[in-house]
Amino acid sequence: MPFSCGKVLVCSVSFFLLTLPPAYGDVSYSFPEEMKRGSVIGNLAKDLGLEASRLSARKARIDTEGNRKRYCDINLTSGDLIVTEIIDREELCGEKLSCLLSFEFVLENPLELHRILLQIQDVNDNSPIFPKDTIKLDIGESADKGARYRVNAAHDADIGQNAVQSYVLQRNNHFVLSVQTTSAGSKYGELVLDKELDREKQQELQLLITAVDGGTPQRSGTVVIHVTVLDANDNAPVFSQDVYKASLPENSPLYTVVVTVSATDADEGVNGEVMYEFSRMSDKARKMFTLDQKTGDITLIGELDYEEESKYEMFVEGKDGYGLSSDTKVIIDITDINDNAPVIYLKSLSNPIPENASPGTEVGIINVQDRDSENNRQVRCSIQQNVPFKLVPSIKNYYSLVTTGELDRELVSDYNITITATDEGSPPLSSTKSVQLSVADVNDNPPVFEEQSYSAHVTENNQPGSSVCSVTARDPDWRQNGTVIYSLLPGEVNGVPVSSFLSVNGDTGVIHAGRSFDYEQFMRFKVHVMARDNGSPPLSSNVTVSVFVTDVNDNSPQILYPAPEGNSFMTELVPKAAHGGSLVSKVIAVDADSGQNAWLSYHIVKSTDPGLFTIGLHSGEIRAQRDISESDSMKQNLIVSVKDNGQPSLSATCSMYLVISDNLAEVPELKDISYDESNSKLTSYLIIALVSVSTFFLTFIIVILAVRFCRRRKPRLLFDGAVAIPSAYLPPNYAEVDGAGTLRSTYNYDAYLTTGSRTSDFKFVTSYNDNTLPADQTLRKTPKDFAEELDDFDGSSQVGLNCK
Ligand SMILES: *[C@@H]1O[C@H](CO)[C@@H](O)[C@H](O)[C@H]1NC(C)=O
Ligand SMILES: *[C@@H]1O[C@H](CO)[C@@H](O)[C@H](O)[C@H]1NC(C)=O
Ligand SMILES: *[C@@H]1O[C@H](CO)[C@@H](O)[C@H](O)[C@H]1NC(C)=O
Ligand SMILES: *[C@@H]1O[C@H](CO)[C@@H](O)[C@H](O)[C@H]1NC(C)=O
Repeated sequence: MPFSCGKVLVCSVSFFLLTLPPAYGDVSYSFPEEMKRGSVIGNLAKDLGLEASRLSARKARIDTEGNRKRYCDINLTSGDLIVTEIIDREELCGEKLSCLLSFEFVLENPLELHRILLQIQDVNDNSPIFPKDTIKLDIGESADKGARYRVNAAHDADIGQNAVQSYVLQRNNHFVLSVQTTSAGSKYGELVLDKELDREKQQELQLLITAVDGGTPQRSGTVVIHVTVLDANDNAPVFSQDVYKASLPENSPLYTVVVTVSATDADEGVNGEVMYEFSRMSDKARKMFTLDQKTGDITLIGELDYEEESKYEMFVEGKDGYGLSSDTKVIIDITDINDNAPVIYLKSLSNPIPENASPGTEVGIINVQDRDSENNRQVRCSIQQNVPFKLVPSIKNYYSLVTTGELDRELVSDYNITITATDEGSPPLSSTKSVQLSVADVNDNPPVFEEQSYSAHVTENNQPGSSVCSVTARDPDWRQNGTVIYSLLPGEVNGVPVSSFLSVNGDTGVIHAGRSFDYEQFMRFKVHVMARDNGSPPLSSNVTVSVFVTDVNDNSPQILYPAPEGNSFMTELVPKAAHGGSLVSKVIAVDADSGQNAWLSYHIVKSTDPGLFTIGLHSGEIRAQRDISESDSMKQNLIVSVKDNGQPSLSATCSMYLVISDNLAEVPELKDISYDESNSKLTSYLIIALVSVSTFFLTFIIVILAVRFCRRRKPRLLFDGAVAIPSAYLPPNYAEVDGAGTLRSTYNYDAYLTTGSRTSDFKFVTSYNDNTLPADQTLRKTPKDFAEELDDFDGSSQVGLNCK
């Protein structure tokens, strides 16, 4: 039958406002059965006021309950609801007057649920059919005019106007047709005898009845009634009820007698024996029930399932021995038993969820269905405790799975969420579903160094490129978010970029020296190492690495006094009256190293008169060992070796010339020790000597006083009668060592001047390094060498550090 969609598709949209936030509305369409696949039923997007373009993003879909067939679907591009399966109203709804299909239209984000009702209109696609093609009717010849004979109704699977509307009897001489309506609403015909039969005239006759429906075009079905004229009269059986109703719980045991129909016939004997048989019934019902033809017991022979079919209708015919019959309707209602556990459907799941999802984020949508009815389909849902998720009832039987707290992938990266659904039947049935959720990483942890700060000890003169120490930072994030890259933060040490001192391996955190360090240049420095992860944006943290350079005995002692200038012979004057123990002179030496490496000791290696002078082991003070006597040689020279305490130790030597004399005039020429006795010069020498002696004496007194005074104020100065060299005299590098106070006074023995020294105007070199012989030159000399050299020493040979 051709139809115009536009005209037939009446659509009515009605929205109900619920208290729940998501919109919820019904939309219903009415359209004829048997529409081709792909036919458009209506435009859902338009009718619900949705943007068709967003349907895809919102995962719009049509949901059916359970495993039912889906007859329609939505075109996500246009929003059209289209037919996907040819709908046969008769198969779906049978004789029901109204055939409704209900679907759910689900949208997510936010969850939105609409009910779609499809009203399937009947199309006249079925013809009326009589239960049998031929009906045999035996009628006694004595039957009176007006006697009625019921003809079983024709059945048309269509409904309403398309069902059987009337019956037409073919013109004949004896019968007319009267159309009756049963209490159930169906129409049947009765043959009414209009003119008496006469067996002698006509023994048999054929009647043709046509049933017509009200559809356009009209359809019809026919039955032939074969009438045999009998001699005697007869009564048709009469059922005790027009309609038999029974109710039976589903899953009832086989061979249960559901209902018993019974009809009585007024006739005697064979004519009164009623036989029962099903006349019209669905195939489903035929497989489920049998009818005992003698007793009228309807017995269950199949497995009843309320969810399949909740109601069976059938017609039973009662027939007597003559073939006269009547029928009755049997309705069997099936009652529900809680035999279906709820089923949990995971409708959508955002997996994985980022760990920074705020509490309350919707993670998934769950739909619970129970095929039972009434209380048996009331379902409650829950999830286990101790997970940061909960189920929030949404629309109808939908639940949202939302987070209840902060997630931290570094603590828990996976969740097994068990959803339990329990119905309210008795006993209740329940089912569970396990949902696996992973937490996706977000770069929320900066790398953290294992230590608050690092320190490295490097021995000076190290190999460039040697590893100094290593730093390690951990980042618990995932993959590149947890991959740590190390780098050196820019900075300076004494104006030099740190990158020239150290380098760090970006992957391992191993720090390498970029050059050889010199303790005497810097004892320690700090660099900052940054650990950065590879996330975007990256996170970082930094740590301080303090590098301590440890000293190596790589500097030999430097003798400051006697001045090492080889050419200017310096001579100390020793008074002839000097007593044993008196201070004669002092060797002053420094060592650029520190600690033991700078702890100097002084030894006299060679002297003219070995018993005459001693040197303080650590003070360098040269004292007369005994009183000077007249017999002592006037010229004395000492070769002093200064050694540090390093391993191995380094040393330097110097020569000191002493002249035992009270008179400057007696002092020999400085250059060549040859003494030229010149009378003309004697007087002036005498004057100079007098002046010197008195000056020396005065100075001595002053110095003693000063020392007393200083000792009281500066108890740190260790040596008796010693004069501290002002720190301004010290080489510049020394002043730089911090924390010098205690350390220096304990370890450095380098800066003392004896009171006995008349050379108060020490010429300290500005940069002692420049004037010091390189260490190796001194190192090669062993004390033995010195001894040899001293033997042939006549004042002109220059070995090592010579001074006069
Ligand atoms: C959906 O509708 C669009 C536009 O009307 C059409 O081009 C497309 O073919 C349809 N898709 C399906 C599967 O019917
Ligand atoms: C989650 O369940 C799966 C399989 O059921 C199992 O392999 C896994 O170990 C479980 N994880 C946790 C954290 O319980
Ligand atoms: C790293 O974190 C970012 C967000 O900070 C995230 O988008 C990315 O997926 C993460 N990478 C991995 C490998 O988990
Ligand atoms: C790391 O160093 C940078 C640059 O010097 C500085 O801005 C930042 O505050 C430092 N971070 C830490 C944690 O010390």
